[in-house]
Amino acid sequence: MEEFEREDAMPPDAKLGPPADARGTVVVTGAAGFVGTHACRALVQQGWTVRVVVRRAQRAAQQLAGIPVHYVVGDLRQAATRSDAVRGVTTVVHLAAIAIERAGQSYEEVNTNMTAALIEAARAAGVRRFVHMSQNGASSASPHRFLRSKGVAEEHVRASDLDWTVFRPSVIFGRGDEFVTVLARLVRLSPVIYPLPGGGTARFQPVSVTDVAHAIAAAVRRPDTVRQSYPLGGPEALTLREMIERILGAMGTSRILVPVPVTVLRPIIAIAQRVFPRPPVTTALLGLLALDNTVPDSTAWATLGVGSTPFTAGELAYLRSITVREAWTAMW
Ligand SMILES: NC(=O)c1ccc[n+]([C@@H]2O[C@H](COP(=O)([O-])OP(=O)(O)OC[C@H]3O[C@@H](n4cnc5c(N)ncnc54)[C@H](OP(=O)(O)O)[C@@H]3O)[C@@H](O)[C@H]2O)c1
Repeated sequence: MEEFEREDAMPPDAKLGPPADARGTVVVTGAAGFVGTHACRALVQQGWTVRVVVRRAQRAAQQLAGIPVHYVVGDLRQAATRSDAVRGVTTVVHLAAIAIERAGQSYEEVNTNMTAALIEAARAAGVRRFVHMSQNGASSASPHRFLRSKGVAEEHVRASDLDWTVFRPSVIFGRGDEFVTVLARLVRLSPVIYPLPGGGTARFQPVSVTDVAHAIAAAVRRPDTVRQSYPLGGPEALTLREMIERILGAMGTSRILVPVPVTVLRPIIAIAQRVFPRPPVTTALLGLLALDNTVPDSTAWATLGVGSTPFTAGELAYLRSITVREAWTAMW
């Protein structure tokens, strides 16, 4: 928690520690992440006082530059961070999670146990409202550890006596995303042939991060979203092949798309995982590229009064800035 004192790391419009008047304060976990930065902007625009929980103050200051928020710096696996996070707030927006396991951070510890502990911290502090970011396909019965960790976390949320709302998005795209950006980096790193894991037939329903952020802000504002769960998918279901074709179109390039079974890619990814500190894909996530990820219904948008942005070359213009050098550096 030492970095809490590092005022020099904060943007000029940032405030350290909890605000003096905590009425109407929303705390956002995972605020420096991809969805978090967009969610914070949407919440501030709606007039909420926003407290953010971040692990790395300096990086968070860059990510959240220009958004007036109050910082709590710490790891949410620590009880002290959790109690600092929820003290005096009206609402918790819980986004913090990991999609790739790194040293000392397992899916179960971060995605599941940390969520259960945060629910307890919220209850202990008398906070009722809990907006939770789950994942389409999350299930305690999933054979995939990542989806299982998110599924068990969601069960903790639903079993609690809090006023919860759960979001279950398909893959989220927008500047700063991981999924689509990684596919685009692999385009730069595969000059002629582009391997399609599992044949590229799995179907996804990519949803814009702006729409997800507005959905979160709508849930925070609206009591009728309490104890409701919302699948979030974009307006089109696309196969992985179709997504990559649109990505190639947005990047103004082409590749020969070659179907490759997941079983063939697995040992290659396993080696890449040993070589690169930040591999683009892990063996744990590889199987998910061959798994359908479309949502059961799209009624959330009408209910929440939020638009649904298509996955078009125009919306993917942010991929054009990816270079071979950037793609290579990202893995280190
Ligand atoms: N992106 C998608 O396509 C997608 C799709 C469906 C659901 N979701 C869900 O949406 C949520 C946000 O995802 P995202 O894409 O924004 O992920 P992200 O960019 O990786 O952000 C996650 C944030 O959580 C923080 N975090 C992780 N462990 C923490 C800990 N122990 N203590 C405090 N903070 C911690 C990370 O902090 P550091 O910056 O310090 O690492 C990071 O800022 C997640 O729950 C994810 O499962 C995402």
